[in-house]
Amino acid sequence: MTNISSDKRPAHIAIIMDGNGRWATSRGLPRTEGHKAGADTVLRVLDYCLKYDIHYLTLYAFSTENWKRSPTEVAALMKLLSDFLDAQGAKLHQHKVRLCVIGDLERLPAPAQTRLRKQIDESAKYTDHVLTLALSYGGRAEIVQAAQKLAAEVAAGTIRPQDITEDSFANHLQTAGIPDPDLIIRTAGEQRLSNFLLWQASYAEFWFTPVLWPDFDETTFQEALENFSQRQRRYGKA
Ligand code: IPE
Ligand code: IPE
Ligand code: MG
Repeated sequence: MTNISSDKRPAHIAIIMDGNGRWATSRGLPRTEGHKAGADTVLRVLDYCLKYDIHYLTLYAFSTENWKRSPTEVAALMKLLSDFLDAQGAKLHQHKVRLCVIGDLERLPAPAQTRLRKQIDESAKYTDHVLTLALSYGGRAEIVQAAQKLAAEVAAGTIRPQDITEDSFANHLQTAGIPDPDLIIRTAGEQRLSNFLLWQASYAEFWFTPVLWPDFDETTFQEALENFSQRQRRYGKA
C-alpha cells in the first residue's frame, strides 16, 4: 500500500488505454490478441483503484473514431466488452462498483448494450466506487449534444440564454454527476487527448508513460500516483 496521504491521491483517474496493437504486433500476434491482453489489464487496474481507494476510474475503451478500424478488429473489441461484463459483473457487485457509460451506447451491438444497461441499472445504488467506460465516445460529440439540449430548452422557453452557466453546461454533459478527472494517464508514449474528455480535462494533471497498456502493472500505477502526489495544482492562483 502506498503511503501517499488521501489528500494527495487523485479522486478520479481517467486513462487513455493505448498500445494494445503495438504490443501484439511486436510479438508477431494479431492486434486482437493485444486487446485481449489489454482487457486483463483493465481487471488489474480496477483492483489497484480499489486497493488505493481511488473513487472514480474512467477508461477510454473505444472512441467514435475507432469505428474506422477493420470490421474484424471492431467485432473483437465488442466481443471482449460483452465477455468482460459476463465475467466481471459479479465482481463489480461484490466490490460495490457503480458502472457508468459515456458515449453513444446506441451504436454498440445489441448484446453489449443489453449487458451494459443491466449492469448500469443494478449498480446504480453504489456510491463509493464508480467505473465509467467511454464507449463509442467523442468529447466534441458530447459537447455538441449538451449544446443541443440547452438550445432545445431555450427554444421551449424553459431557460434563457443568459441562464446557461459553466455548471449548467457541465450538467448537460454525459459525465454529469461525476467530478472532473484529477489525473489523466495515457500509455504507449502518445501525448494527445484523441477527443477524450475535452471539457472535463480543463484542470486535469497529465501523466504519460511509454509502457504499453497490456504491460501496465502495479509499479506503473504507483509511479503515476507518486508523480501526481508531487504536483502543485494552482488553478490560476499565484
Ligand atoms: C488501444 O490500443 C485500444 C483501443 C484504441 C481500442 P490500440 O489498438 O490503439 O493500440 P495501438 O495504438 O495500435 O498500439
Ligand atoms: C485513443 O486511442 C482511443 C482509445 C484509447 C480508446 P487511439 O489509438 O484510437 O488514438 P490515436 O488514433 O492514436 O489518436
Ligand atoms: Mg492507439
